[in-house]
Amino acid sequence: MEILKTPQKALKYSKSLNGSIGFVPTMGALHPGHLELIKKARDENDFVIVSIFVNPTQFLPGEDLDKYPRRLESDFEICKRAGVDGVFTPNPKNIYSEDEILLKAPKIKGYILEGFFRPGHFDGVLQVVNKLFNIIKPTRAYFGKKDAQQLYLIKQMIKNFFFDIEIVEIETVRGKDGLALSSRNIYLSEKNRKKALTISKSLKKAAKMSIHINDIENIKKEMIKILEVDKLQYIAFVDRDFNYIDKIIPGNTIILIAAYVGKTRLIDNIWI
Ligand code: PAF
Repeated sequence: MEILKTPQKALKYSKSLNGSIGFVPTMGALHPGHLELIKKARDENDFVIVSIFVNPTQFLPGEDLDKYPRRLESDFEICKRAGVDGVFTPNPKNIYSEDEILLKAPKIKGYILEGFFRPGHFDGVLQVVNKLFNIIKPTRAYFGKKDAQQLYLIKQMIKNFFFDIEIVEIETVRGKDGLALSSRNIYLSEKNRKKALTISKSLKKAAKMSIHINDIENIKKEMIKILEVDKLQYIAFVDRDFNYIDKIIPGNTIILIAAYVGKTRLIDNIWI
């Protein structure tokens, strides 16, 4: 497995590959959710490249950039065992320059929900993913449905900038108890994990209810009854293009939650 520490090395490496490239962008601290992305990339491509980069521009001041888990050596082991061909681990100085050209997330869909509570977050995500796509030039790139709004915006970027890359969406991986896997789950104490579980429980309840009723207000009321989080930021109902909806549209609805449990901010969603 090649460890590529600079954009120049990664560019040269990906250029040298003769075949399709499956790309899995990550911020490291790899868990079974990432492994699903890697496995799918392995199945569908001749080569697999994973990037591990804790991208500073997508963290807001006061967020967990410094605290974000970094486990490079064990991540390398996980990648090696999963049959990854190349791991790209640049440092911020190699990726960013001073006073550079900046991408802006779309004014509406980049600034609702996650973009409202984390203004500028998606600007940073798109900035780095754009760079990563230009460096790796993948055939396909793999993203989890857990970050549904990120996934939507990346698909928009593909369209708006005419990238010739197929975006592959992967189902959210959950623990046995239903908690959506996230690198941030390590922040949760046992007590807070129990509270966090009410997020996936309420989403499950919403999915069940939406088989029979399409009245969002009713569903929302039941979800709130189940939730035991410390601070609920939003429960939202959108279609697959992130337009707010006022009735469940079977096959075209995403229900999303963002909430704090203790100091940990968690997001989850269910696609209906
Ligand atoms: O989803 C993530 O881990 C990050 O937002 C990504 C796509 C790797 C960009 O830094």
